[in-house]
Amino acid sequence: MTLWQGRLAGGMADEVAELSVSVSFDRELAIDDVAGSKAHVRGLAKTGILSDGEASLLLGALEQVAEELASGLFVFRPTDEDVHTAIERRVTELAGEVGAKLHTGRSRNDQVATDLRLWSRRSLLEVAGEVVALQDVLLRRATEAGDAYLPGYTHLQRAQPVLLGHHLLAHGWALARDVDRLIATVERLDTSPLGAGALAGSSLPLDPDFVAEQLGFAARFENSLDAVGDRDFVAEALFDLALLGVHLSRMGEEVVLWSTEEWGFCTLDDAYATGSSMLPQKKNPDVAELARGKTGRLVGHLTGVLTTLKGLPLAYNRDLQEDKEPLFDAVSQVRAVLRALAGLYRTVEWHQERMQAAADGPTSASVDLAELLVARGTPFRQAHALVAGLVRDSIARHVPLVELVQAHPDLGEAGAQLLEPGVAVSRRTTPGGAGPVPVADQVERFVRRLDVDRSRLEIHVHTLCAAPVPDSAPRPAPDPGPAGPSEVASRRAPDPGSDQASSPAPNPAPSV
Ligand code: ARG
Repeated sequence: MTLWQGRLAGGMADEVAELSVSVSFDRELAIDDVAGSKAHVRGLAKTGILSDGEASLLLGALEQVAEELASGLFVFRPTDEDVHTAIERRVTELAGEVGAKLHTGRSRNDQVATDLRLWSRRSLLEVAGEVVALQDVLLRRATEAGDAYLPGYTHLQRAQPVLLGHHLLAHGWALARDVDRLIATVERLDTSPLGAGALAGSSLPLDPDFVAEQLGFAARFENSLDAVGDRDFVAEALFDLALLGVHLSRMGEEVVLWSTEEWGFCTLDDAYATGSSMLPQKKNPDVAELARGKTGRLVGHLTGVLTTLKGLPLAYNRDLQEDKEPLFDAVSQVRAVLRALAGLYRTVEWHQERMQAAADGPTSASVDLAELLVARGTPFRQAHALVAGLVRDSIARHVPLVELVQAHPDLGEAGAQLLEPGVAVSRRTTPGGAGPVPVADQVERFVRRLDVDRSRLEIHVHTLCAAPVPDSAPRPAPDPGPAGPSEVASRRAPDPGSDQASSPAPNPAPSV
């Protein structure tokens, strides 16, 4: 069935249906479509376009559709052009002729834009909740790691020792920026397009503010053309997910390297590794490789949607139907990777002796030697040249560096002590640096940051749950993380940098 059959004679050619029918994928929007329709019906009733009796018939039918969707009994027909058609058809079957009034003052153009914003708001918050769950795992592993250290690398060459906790939290902070971006995208997309109609609004007395409020949106659209043609939020969401994917990919790449026999820094738990169909001895890091591999696809989705958008004249164009599959896929792929990586990091076994042996290489404290000379009054450039000369000598003459250092009049025993195992990392005292003192402080700051982000997410999730209409939308799963504040003070959560940010956590974990 199409919603526009009056205008064109006969049905769609089969190849046109094959090209344009979207119900196979936009059924993902079904609960949001029901939520949008309920708000629309209430809006029509409020302004007298529908009688109360008509509205309650339509709301009852929509509620039944919601139940059928939740129980898996809703039947999408191959003849339904899209999810909007399928739901309107079913409402009409259930409610009778009043079903013909459901679409009054509405177009699929404002309808689909509304559905996709509702879907994105919920889904991006769920993704952010899963990022926080992964950050929690990193935090736990970082704290457990205590004073364990490993080589830090630049250019993938051993550079200076760093605490393992410092290294793990480096990934944690990148993920914190992802959470921040996802929340910012949700805040920016939190505008209702419903009431914009096909492109210009309606002659009927619609109330877009009321409808926006019903759906828990922060505001209604300002411009109807923009409302139906804007997919910035899809592009932004895809960028957020692609960059998050890039971070997960870098984590994956590291696990791939660290779990090799050559590196030997970790062993994966069997549940988070795979075998080979031919080589009986193999234990492969496929989870980490897939985290790396999925990212190409995420970047591709962003590029694809930006390319689709770039040539579009105002306002709605059918090209916009191409926004959904990339977005749905990006969200589900990222979520799958987040969950698997969280399990991998939760269970991976670190080999600290091996890490520390690599970090205690004979030259790993070279810069500390130069800094000892600086402390004794040598300009850094000269100190650097002197130590570089000793390292070169040690390699060329096969003499341990420590012997050359001991024999050097400006370094002597004090210099030799700097080369003792574990000394170099303990001397990294710069705030934010890699040694035990700043890392202990960093852990506290990271804990506070997670609390703030949990409460920011919770405020948004509460707003969604408080919205009167989407009562048939599935409630988000409980966050397994530790407690975070849950008072809903305002629509906007505290800034991560603000004082409020460190307020204590009075209530159980938010549902994200
Ligand atoms: N399936 C369409 C989409 O995703 C719904 C809107 C159709 N609007 C129209 N004027 N044909 O964009």
